[in-house]
Amino acid sequence: MVEFLINKQHDESRQGESFLPDSESSGTLTGKVYIESYGCQMNFADSEVVASILKEKGYGFTADFRMADLIFLNTCSIREKAEQTVRKRLTEFRQVKKERPGLLIGVLGCMAERLKSKFIEEEKLVDIVVGPDAYRSLPELIEEAESGQKGVNVLLSREETYADLTPVRLNSNGVTAFVSIMRGCNNMCSFCVVPFTRGRERSRNPQSILQECRQLLEAGYREVTLLGQNVDSYSWQHSPEDPRVSFADLLEQVASLSPLLRVRFSTSHPKDITDEVLYAMARHENICNYIHLPVQSGSTRILGLMNRTYSRDWYIAKVQRIREIIPDCGLSTDIICGFCTETEEDHLETLSLMEYCDYDLAYMFFYSERPGTPAAKRLTDDIPEAVKKRRLQEVVNLHRNQSLKNMEKEVGKVLKVLIEGNSKKSTSHWFGRSDNNKVVVFPKEGNLCKGDYAEVKIESCTAGTLIGKLHNKTS
Ligand code: SAH
Ligand code: SF4
Ligand code: F3S
Repeated sequence: MVEFLINKQHDESRQGESFLPDSESSGTLTGKVYIESYGCQMNFADSEVVASILKEKGYGFTADFRMADLIFLNTCSIREKAEQTVRKRLTEFRQVKKERPGLLIGVLGCMAERLKSKFIEEEKLVDIVVGPDAYRSLPELIEEAESGQKGVNVLLSREETYADLTPVRLNSNGVTAFVSIMRGCNNMCSFCVVPFTRGRERSRNPQSILQECRQLLEAGYREVTLLGQNVDSYSWQHSPEDPRVSFADLLEQVASLSPLLRVRFSTSHPKDITDEVLYAMARHENICNYIHLPVQSGSTRILGLMNRTYSRDWYIAKVQRIREIIPDCGLSTDIICGFCTETEEDHLETLSLMEYCDYDLAYMFFYSERPGTPAAKRLTDDIPEAVKKRRLQEVVNLHRNQSLKNMEKEVGKVLKVLIEGNSKKSTSHWFGRSDNNKVVVFPKEGNLCKGDYAEVKIESCTAGTLIGKLHNKTS
């Protein structure tokens, strides 16, 4: 049997994890591939596209890089630390390659795109460099590399969405899946490398998205997360005579597939999320009441320098609108501390905005200058590292208090939970998530299965987990 296992590593928090496959490879084995992914959910989704392309050619997969004929790192460039992690990992692979000179090492994703063939000059052991829009050329590039040449393709595309490919669900729990609905980004947030590594924004044909979601539903999946750097600017028109499909339309179409299928989405840009999206969420019980709405800073001046195209007041008005239309909506954000010229006052404005928004979850970073970005070209990275880190710590402390209070507010409630699998700590407990994305753990009882919905009465909580007991099985 061919193993379909993958290691996943997230830039900030996720460590290597392995999961069993939902399918096996067919065809003759061409070689064994090990893929390790870093960065955002889109990059993890891309690894599944890469696996699909390689599986088609007969490749098998392994969870142990020592067993692999090909090692791929799907990389992230968002912050310097993310790139350093990959470099460190490559030095570990250097040792393996010394012992097995036939081993091929490939770098995929955003760091491949950013550094292009420079990667091969800098890291001599790398044989293959492939950017996010060029994965279809992987089989040929592997062949080139096998014949001793270096295989490089970092062409960005205006059309590629991999719409026709069925991703191989490498990290699957069999219940929740990511579905890419668009690629690239047309925004030019001054700190951000993504427009350079992922290219122009393009939306995927809604028919292929619906088809993928339908297949997932039939295979027993019960939750899809629609992915894009800026999902609210999704837009599709078959031809000029046809009506345009907006993100709100797409969301409703996916939600209408089955009331059993939960729908989530990420990421929303505050400037683009519309009332139509909020009304669609309010109308459909199975569109989860949870929005990731990165603010980046609470200071209008800094937001201007970041080119986020909204002000503090505008963002606050958006949050008010969300709470008006979806009163119990979960809200999360991203915050960057210590951006160029940030004063103590600007920082205090970030803290006060956090007080107002009362986020359930926040991803918090200190600013890391990325070469080639508008901020790197036009602004000075002038906040000392110690100040950046101190501000970040203050933001983290405030967030910890707020999120714990928000968890405590759930105690006593009955929440509808989708069971995703066993609790990590104990196989006698289920692990799942509530509609507003909170992790819920409760003792197994009755004949519930993974993929079932259950009503759980919340009895206590920690900072990250709600602990409850079965109230009722709902389906
Ligand atoms: N498309 C999403 C986020 C993409 S990157 C959006 O528009 O919000 C994820 C997060 O990384 C960003 O929201 C930002 O908070 C952070 N980030 C991006 N570039 C960064 C940089 N140069 N330094 C520190 N954090 C950064
Ligand atoms: Fe980067 Fe801004 Fe695009 Fe998000 S919206 S990917 S932060 S440029
Ligand atoms: Fe990183 Fe690229 Fe995603 S830079 S955050 S992997 S789009």
